[in-house]
Amino acid sequence: MRLLAALTASVCLIVWAAAAADVREANYAAGYFGELLPDLTPDQLASATNGSKLFLKRWTEGNGNRRNADSCVACHSVPMPGGSGMSAQALVAVDAKGEIVQTGFPAPPHESGTVRRTRALFGIGYLEAAGGGFGAFGKDPDLKTFVAKAFATELGVSSSLQCARSGETPPQTCVAAISDKDLDDVVAYLRFLAPPPRSKEAAEGRKVFETIGCAKCHAPVLTTRSDAPAPLRGRRFAAHTDRKTHDMGGRAPVMTAPLWGVQSFGPPYMHDACGYSLAAAIKCHRGEGQAAADAFNALMEGEREALLAFLRAL
Ligand code: HEC
Ligand code: HEC
Repeated sequence: MRLLAALTASVCLIVWAAAAADVREANYAAGYFGELLPDLTPDQLASATNGSKLFLKRWTEGNGNRRNADSCVACHSVPMPGGSGMSAQALVAVDAKGEIVQTGFPAPPHESGTVRRTRALFGIGYLEAAGGGFGAFGKDPDLKTFVAKAFATELGVSSSLQCARSGETPPQTCVAAISDKDLDDVVAYLRFLAPPPRSKEAAEGRKVFETIGCAKCHAPVLTTRSDAPAPLRGRRFAAHTDRKTHDMGGRAPVMTAPLWGVQSFGPPYMHDACGYSLAAAIKCHRGEGQAAADAFNALMEGEREALLAFLRAL
């Protein structure tokens, strides 16, 4: 028995060592937001390239009365396609029925709880391959489901996975306006969209970030699963998220926002556009994030500047 346990333990150790040795650094965009990962197969590249066009496409097929915009890039545009945005469409206030009541910048007051800030999508393939859900509240289990939902609810474009909203009650059976292949290509585009280009680390601020508890949720490093598609498999990446939801004092737990590239996507920050600067975004941390916000408020001027410089360089 003891021998068996020892054997199992050593086998585990060997497997673990092999797996650990296999983990490589992730690829980041070489210099420009919006680049694709460099090491794609010809098929992956062809699929992602077609997907990128569909992301930019103006969809006339959608149900015009029942959509928020006519392209993905209408909202995901800053600083490049795939990013966030502050266009009229990107900041919308919706009522309980999901109808738009106000659009534009600056956003409607966040107390209403209805403002949705667009999240940037650079590096989302690594996030997918590290686990955790999608959307502000992490409720959608996988990227493809979310993309189908975005087509249906944002653009009014039905697919075989999800029907767009229709004016009729009961709704008519819908006809897919995007093919399964094109839907897969859009998923491939997002999956292989490189993480933001890196800049020189502001090391002094990292210490402050760790000391006051930011890293508890904004975990500096994650590793992707070993069964992810080849270019994303077994990669160590620094998105600064734990891919989990936290009670932030609002109505529902919120997915920890990745912080890579954060300086280039806003303002505003936070899913409800609560913060119009990085410092203001930190002050918006309530619930489980309250202690970190308090610690931030108690920092001395120099430490606070160092922390903000660290965030701006992520
Ligand atoms: C009207 C604005 C708007 C349009 C158009 C739009 N999005 Fe988004 N998108 C958002 C917002 C706001 C979020 C934030 C998350 C949420 O709403 O739950 C988001 C989030 C996402 C996410 C999840 C990000 C994450 O970190 O979990 C994906 C993937 C995505 N969008 C893809 C798309 C695709 C593909 C299209 C085109 C079919 C599209 N979006 C069109 C506003 C938009
Ligand atoms: C309890 C977990 C937790 C802790 C601790 C925490 N955060 Fe966050 N942080 C989050 C969550 C969750 C979000 C997303 C909130 C939202 O979208 O409304 C977020 C969002 C942010 C954002 C906005 C990102 C964006 O794209 O909108 C910044 C900046 C940020 N955090 C910085 C920090 C800093 C700096 C600290 C330490 C002082 C910190 N956070 C501590 C959970 C945490």
